Amino acid sequence: MSTAVHPEIEFPKNWHRRHLLDLESLSQEEISTILDVAQQLKELTQGCRQKISLLAGKTCANLFFENSTRTRNSFSLAAKRLGADTVEFSSAGSSVAKGETFVDTAKTIEAMGVEWVVTRHGTPGTPHLLSRELNCCVLNAGDGPHGHPTQGLLDMLTIRQHRGDIKGLTVALVGDIAHSRTARSNIWGLSKLGAHVIICGPPTLVSPRWTELGFEVAHHLDDILPRCDVLNLLRIQFERQRARPFPSVHEYAALYAMNGARMQKAKDDILIMAPGPINRGVEITPEVADGPHSVILEQVTNGIAVRMAALWLLSGASERAEANATSSPAD
Ligand code: CP
Repeated sequence: MSTAVHPEIEFPKNWHRRHLLDLESLSQEEISTILDVAQQLKELTQGCRQKISLLAGKTCANLFFENSTRTRNSFSLAAKRLGADTVEFSSAGSSVAKGETFVDTAKTIEAMGVEWVVTRHGTPGTPHLLSRELNCCVLNAGDGPHGHPTQGLLDMLTIRQHRGDIKGLTVALVGDIAHSRTARSNIWGLSKLGAHVIICGPPTLVSPRWTELGFEVAHHLDDILPRCDVLNLLRIQFERQRARPFPSVHEYAALYAMNGARMQKAKDDILIMAPGPINRGVEITPEVADGPHSVILEQVTNGIAVRMAALWLLSGASERAEANATSSPAD
Protein backbone atom coordinates (compact mmCIF):
# COMPACT_ATOMS: atom_id res chain seq x y z
CA MET A 1 0.00 0.00 0.00
CA SER A 2 1.33 3.43 -0.87
CA THR A 3 1.57 5.46 2.31
CA ALA A 4 0.52 8.63 0.47
CA VAL A 5 -2.88 7.29 -0.54
CA HIS A 6 -6.05 7.14 1.52
CA PRO A 7 -9.48 6.53 0.03
CA GLU A 8 -10.91 9.70 1.55
CA ILE A 9 -8.18 12.21 0.83
CA GLU A 10 -6.58 13.15 -2.47
CA PHE A 11 -3.03 14.44 -2.66
CA PRO A 12 -3.15 18.06 -3.92
CA LYS A 13 -1.71 18.42 -7.41
CA ASN A 14 -0.27 21.87 -6.63
CA TRP A 15 1.92 20.67 -3.73
CA HIS A 16 5.64 20.13 -4.47
CA ARG A 17 7.55 21.22 -1.36
CA ARG A 18 9.64 18.74 0.63
CA HIS A 19 10.44 21.15 3.48
CA LEU A 20 8.41 23.57 5.62
CA LEU A 21 10.88 26.23 6.69
CA ASP A 22 8.89 29.47 6.92
CA LEU A 23 5.71 31.13 5.70
CA GLU A 24 7.31 34.07 3.90
CA SER A 25 8.36 31.82 1.01
CA LEU A 26 4.95 30.10 0.67
CA SER A 27 2.31 31.39 -1.72
CA GLN A 28 -1.26 32.17 -0.72
CA GLU A 29 -2.28 29.03 -2.61
CA GLU A 30 0.20 26.83 -0.73
CA ILE A 31 -0.91 28.18 2.65
CA SER A 32 -4.56 27.56 1.74
CA THR A 33 -3.68 24.02 0.63
CA ILE A 34 -2.10 23.20 4.00
CA LEU A 35 -5.14 24.63 5.83
CA ASP A 36 -7.55 22.68 3.61
CA VAL A 37 -5.65 19.42 4.16
CA ALA A 38 -5.41 20.11 7.92
CA GLN A 39 -9.18 20.55 8.07
CA GLN A 40 -9.72 17.31 6.13
CA LEU A 41 -7.32 15.37 8.36
CA LYS A 42 -8.89 16.81 11.50
CA GLU A 43 -12.23 15.45 10.32
CA LEU A 44 -10.82 12.10 9.16
CA THR A 45 -9.22 11.59 12.59
CA GLN A 46 -12.40 12.59 14.47
CA GLY A 47 -10.97 15.86 15.79
CA CYS A 48 -7.32 14.68 15.83
CA ARG A 49 -8.18 11.85 18.26
CA GLN A 50 -8.32 8.71 16.08
CA LYS A 51 -5.56 7.00 14.11
CA ILE A 52 -5.51 6.50 10.34
CA SER A 53 -2.71 4.68 8.51
CA LEU A 54 -1.74 7.37 6.04
CA LEU A 55 1.94 7.40 7.03
CA ALA A 56 2.41 3.88 8.41
CA GLY A 57 5.98 2.60 8.21
CA LYS A 58 7.59 6.05 8.31
CA THR A 59 9.45 7.72 11.16
CA CYS A 60 9.45 11.33 12.37
CA ALA A 61 12.41 12.61 14.42
CA ASN A 62 11.90 15.55 16.76
CA LEU A 63 15.22 17.39 17.23
CA PHE A 64 14.57 19.98 19.91
CA PHE A 65 17.38 22.20 21.17
CA GLU A 66 14.93 24.47 23.04
CA ASN A 67 12.10 23.74 25.46
CA SER A 68 8.63 22.97 24.16
CA THR A 69 5.34 21.53 25.37
CA ARG A 70 2.83 22.21 22.59
CA THR A 71 4.93 21.94 19.42
CA ARG A 72 6.94 18.89 20.33
CA ASN A 73 4.06 16.83 21.67
CA SER A 74 1.71 17.78 18.85
CA PHE A 75 4.28 16.87 16.18
CA SER A 76 4.64 13.50 17.93
CA LEU A 77 0.91 12.99 18.14
CA ALA A 78 0.42 14.15 14.54
CA ALA A 79 2.90 11.53 13.34
CA LYS A 80 1.32 8.82 15.50
CA ARG A 81 -2.25 9.74 14.48
CA LEU A 82 -1.20 9.05 10.88
CA GLY A 83 0.45 5.75 11.81
CA ALA A 84 4.12 6.87 11.79
CA ASP A 85 6.73 6.19 14.49
CA THR A 86 8.64 8.93 16.32
CA VAL A 87 12.15 9.49 17.64
CA GLU A 88 12.48 12.04 20.44
CA PHE A 89 15.83 13.82 20.62
CA SER A 90 16.69 16.38 23.30
CA SER A 91 20.02 18.16 23.35
CA ALA A 92 20.21 17.61 27.13
CA GLY A 93 21.72 14.18 27.69
CA SER A 94 22.81 13.81 24.03
CA SER A 95 26.25 13.67 22.38
CA VAL A 96 25.98 17.43 21.76
CA ALA A 97 27.50 17.70 25.27
CA LYS A 98 30.59 15.85 23.88
CA GLY A 99 31.07 18.43 21.14
CA GLU A 100 29.04 16.95 18.27
CA THR A 101 27.83 19.66 15.89
CA PHE A 102 24.19 20.42 15.13
CA VAL A 103 24.53 19.17 11.55
CA ASP A 104 26.37 15.98 12.56
CA THR A 105 23.69 15.29 15.16
CA ALA A 106 20.94 15.74 12.57
CA LYS A 107 22.77 13.55 10.02
CA THR A 108 23.20 10.85 12.69
CA ILE A 109 19.48 10.82 13.41
CA GLU A 110 18.69 10.85 9.68
CA ALA A 111 20.95 7.80 9.17
CA MET A 112 18.62 5.84 11.46
CA GLY A 113 16.08 5.95 8.65
CA VAL A 114 13.73 8.87 9.25
CA GLU A 115 11.36 10.49 6.79
CA TRP A 116 11.13 13.87 8.56
CA VAL A 117 13.36 15.89 10.88
CA VAL A 118 11.42 18.44 12.93
CA THR A 119 13.81 20.94 14.45
CA ARG A 120 13.65 23.70 17.05
CA HIS A 121 16.77 25.73 17.70
CA GLY A 122 17.63 29.13 19.16
CA THR A 123 19.51 30.19 16.04
CA PRO A 124 17.57 31.64 13.07
CA GLY A 125 18.11 29.72 9.85
CA THR A 126 19.00 26.33 11.35
CA PRO A 127 16.13 24.48 9.58
CA HIS A 128 17.19 26.08 6.29
CA LEU A 129 20.73 24.80 6.93
CA LEU A 130 19.43 21.27 7.58
CA SER A 131 17.31 21.32 4.44
CA ARG A 132 20.56 21.72 2.45
CA GLU A 133 22.47 19.10 4.45
CA LEU A 134 19.88 16.30 4.79
CA ASN A 135 18.01 14.22 2.24
CA CYS A 136 14.84 13.84 4.34
CA CYS A 137 12.05 16.38 4.80
CA VAL A 138 12.81 19.20 7.26
CA LEU A 139 10.21 21.09 9.28
CA ASN A 140 10.88 24.24 11.28
CA ALA A 141 9.43 23.99 14.79
CA GLY A 142 10.85 27.41 15.74
CA ASP A 143 14.20 28.99 14.85
CA GLY A 144 15.05 31.67 17.40
CA PRO A 145 12.94 34.78 16.83
CA HIS A 146 12.71 34.15 13.08
CA GLY A 147 9.86 31.77 12.30
CA HIS A 148 7.39 29.21 13.61
CA PRO A 149 5.44 28.25 10.49
CA THR A 150 3.22 25.55 11.98
CA GLN A 151 2.22 27.96 14.78
CA GLY A 152 1.20 30.57 12.19
CA LEU A 153 -0.73 27.89 10.29
CA LEU A 154 -2.58 26.60 13.35
CA ASP A 155 -3.49 30.16 14.30
CA MET A 156 -4.89 30.73 10.80
CA LEU A 157 -6.75 27.42 10.83
CA THR A 158 -8.39 28.41 14.13
CA ILE A 159 -9.45 31.81 12.76
CA ARG A 160 -10.78 30.19 9.59
CA GLN A 161 -12.85 27.68 11.57
CA HIS A 162 -14.54 30.52 13.43
CA ARG A 163 -14.83 33.09 10.66
CA GLY A 164 -14.86 31.06 7.45
CA ASP A 165 -12.51 33.45 5.68
CA ILE A 166 -9.47 35.38 6.83
CA LYS A 167 -9.66 37.96 4.04
CA GLY A 168 -10.82 41.34 5.34
CA LEU A 169 -10.43 40.53 9.05
CA THR A 170 -8.47 42.88 11.31
CA VAL A 171 -6.00 40.85 13.36
CA ALA A 172 -3.77 42.45 16.00
CA LEU A 173 -0.57 40.80 17.18
CA VAL A 174 0.10 42.27 20.61
CA GLY A 175 3.22 42.13 22.76
CA ASP A 176 6.84 41.19 22.26
CA ILE A 177 7.01 41.43 18.47
CA ALA A 178 10.79 41.91 18.50
CA HIS A 179 11.49 38.44 19.87
CA SER A 180 8.45 36.54 18.56
CA ARG A 181 8.77 33.95 15.81
CA THR A 182 5.02 33.42 16.14
CA ALA A 183 4.49 37.09 15.29
CA ARG A 184 6.60 36.85 12.14
CA SER A 185 4.89 33.70 10.88
CA ASN A 186 1.48 35.26 11.56
CA ILE A 187 2.43 38.52 9.88
CA TRP A 188 3.46 36.79 6.62
CA GLY A 189 0.69 34.20 6.65
CA LEU A 190 -2.21 36.47 7.56
CA SER A 191 -1.21 39.19 5.13
CA LYS A 192 -0.95 36.65 2.27
CA LEU A 193 -4.49 35.50 3.09
CA GLY A 194 -5.78 39.09 2.97
CA ALA A 195 -6.10 40.09 6.64
CA HIS A 196 -5.37 43.60 7.86
CA VAL A 197 -2.55 43.02 10.36
CA ILE A 198 -1.88 45.45 13.23
CA ILE A 199 1.42 45.06 15.04
CA CYS A 200 0.98 46.41 18.57
CA GLY A 201 3.30 46.74 21.56
CA PRO A 202 5.70 49.06 23.36
CA PRO A 203 8.05 51.04 21.08
CA THR A 204 10.94 49.06 22.58
CA LEU A 205 9.42 45.81 21.24
CA VAL A 206 7.90 46.94 17.91
CA SER A 207 10.11 48.33 15.16
CA PRO A 208 8.61 51.33 13.30
CA ARG A 209 10.06 49.78 10.13
CA TRP A 210 7.10 47.40 9.89
CA THR A 211 5.20 50.37 8.43
CA GLU A 212 7.67 50.40 5.50
CA LEU A 213 6.42 46.89 4.65
CA GLY A 214 2.84 48.12 4.67
CA PHE A 215 1.76 47.00 8.13
CA GLU A 216 -0.06 49.15 10.69
CA VAL A 217 1.97 49.71 13.86
CA ALA A 218 0.28 50.73 17.12
CA HIS A 219 1.59 51.38 20.60
CA HIS A 220 -1.71 51.69 22.45
CA LEU A 221 -3.93 48.62 22.63
CA ASP A 222 -6.91 50.70 23.78
CA ASP A 223 -6.77 52.75 20.55
CA ILE A 224 -7.03 49.75 18.20
CA LEU A 225 -9.11 47.36 20.29
CA PRO A 226 -12.60 48.37 19.05
CA ARG A 227 -11.52 47.64 15.41
CA CYS A 228 -10.07 44.16 16.02
CA ASP A 229 -11.73 40.89 14.99
CA VAL A 230 -8.91 38.83 16.48
CA LEU A 231 -6.27 39.49 19.13
CA ASN A 232 -3.22 37.23 19.29
CA LEU A 233 -1.52 37.92 22.63
CA LEU A 234 2.18 37.16 22.60
CA ARG A 235 4.28 36.25 25.59
CA ILE A 236 7.02 38.61 26.76
CA GLN A 237 10.15 36.57 26.02
CA PHE A 238 12.39 37.63 28.88
CA GLU A 239 14.79 34.81 28.02
CA ARG A 240 15.63 36.41 24.63
CA GLN A 241 15.95 40.01 25.87
CA ARG A 242 19.28 41.66 26.62
CA ALA A 243 17.73 44.71 28.33
CA ARG A 244 14.39 45.14 30.06
CA PRO A 245 12.08 46.76 27.45
CA PHE A 246 9.76 48.30 30.07
CA PRO A 247 10.15 49.30 33.73
CA SER A 248 8.06 46.47 35.22
CA VAL A 249 5.62 43.70 34.34
CA HIS A 250 2.96 45.70 36.19
CA GLU A 251 3.38 48.64 33.79
CA TYR A 252 3.32 46.35 30.76
CA ALA A 253 0.12 44.68 31.97
CA ALA A 254 -1.56 48.03 32.63
CA LEU A 255 -1.08 49.02 28.97
CA TYR A 256 -1.28 45.72 27.08
CA ALA A 257 -2.86 42.92 29.14
CA MET A 258 -6.22 41.77 27.84
CA ASN A 259 -8.51 41.89 30.86
CA GLY A 260 -12.20 42.08 31.70
CA ALA A 261 -12.38 45.88 31.43
CA ARG A 262 -10.81 45.82 27.95
CA MET A 263 -13.20 43.06 26.85
CA GLN A 264 -16.02 45.57 27.37
CA LYS A 265 -14.48 47.78 24.65
CA ALA A 266 -13.94 44.91 22.18
CA LYS A 267 -16.25 43.63 19.43
CA ASP A 268 -18.93 41.24 20.70
CA ASP A 269 -17.49 38.36 18.67
CA ILE A 270 -13.78 39.04 19.15
CA LEU A 271 -11.52 35.96 19.12
CA ILE A 272 -8.87 35.85 21.84
CA MET A 273 -5.82 33.82 20.88
CA ALA A 274 -2.40 33.10 22.36
CA PRO A 275 0.29 30.77 21.07
CA GLY A 276 1.24 29.78 24.61
CA PRO A 277 2.75 29.31 26.99
CA ILE A 278 0.64 32.09 28.51
CA ASN A 279 1.73 34.19 31.43
CA ARG A 280 -1.47 34.80 33.34
CA GLY A 281 -1.70 38.39 34.54
CA VAL A 282 0.95 39.65 32.10
CA GLU A 283 -0.43 39.53 28.52
CA ILE A 284 -3.81 38.06 29.52
CA THR A 285 -5.82 37.75 32.72
CA PRO A 286 -7.37 34.42 33.78
CA GLU A 287 -10.94 35.67 33.20
CA VAL A 288 -10.08 36.33 29.54
CA ALA A 289 -7.83 33.27 29.02
CA ASP A 290 -10.56 31.00 30.36
CA GLY A 291 -13.49 33.07 29.09
CA PRO A 292 -15.97 32.44 26.26
CA HIS A 293 -13.99 34.36 23.61
CA SER A 294 -10.79 32.42 24.19
CA VAL A 295 -9.81 29.79 21.59
CA ILE A 296 -6.43 29.04 23.13
CA LEU A 297 -7.06 25.32 23.65
CA GLU A 298 -8.65 24.98 20.19
CA GLN A 299 -5.35 26.33 18.86
CA VAL A 300 -3.58 23.45 20.61
CA THR A 301 -5.84 20.84 18.98
CA ASN A 302 -5.42 22.51 15.61
CA GLY A 303 -1.67 22.21 16.09
CA ILE A 304 -2.04 18.45 15.60
CA ALA A 305 -4.15 19.02 12.47
CA VAL A 306 -1.69 21.34 10.71
CA ARG A 307 1.25 19.14 11.68
CA MET A 308 -0.49 16.05 10.29
CA ALA A 309 -1.06 18.01 7.08
CA ALA A 310 2.53 19.19 6.89
CA LEU A 311 3.99 15.70 7.46
CA TRP A 312 1.72 14.15 4.84
CA LEU A 313 2.25 16.85 2.22
CA LEU A 314 6.03 16.92 2.55
CA SER A 315 6.46 13.16 2.40
CA GLY A 316 4.04 12.95 -0.54
CA ALA A 317 6.11 15.50 -2.45
CA SER A 318 9.25 13.59 -1.55
CA GLU A 319 7.78 10.30 -2.84
CA ARG A 320 6.74 11.99 -6.08
CA ALA A 321 10.18 13.50 -6.60
CA GLU A 322 11.78 10.09 -6.05
CA ALA A 323 9.31 8.42 -8.43
CA ASN A 324 10.01 11.03 -11.10
CA ALA A 325 13.77 10.65 -10.65
CA THR A 326 13.66 6.86 -11.07
CA SER A 327 11.15 6.69 -13.92
CA SER A 328 12.63 6.49 -17.41
CA PRO A 329 11.40 8.81 -20.21
CA ALA A 330 9.70 5.79 -21.83
CA ASP A 331 7.59 5.08 -18.70
N1 CP B 1 3.52 27.85 21.01
C1 CP B 1 4.63 27.11 21.23
O1 CP B 1 5.53 27.05 20.39
O2 CP B 1 4.64 26.47 22.42
P1 CP B 1 5.76 25.47 22.92
O3 CP B 1 6.99 26.31 23.22
O4 CP B 1 5.19 24.84 24.16
O5 CP B 1 6.04 24.49 21.84
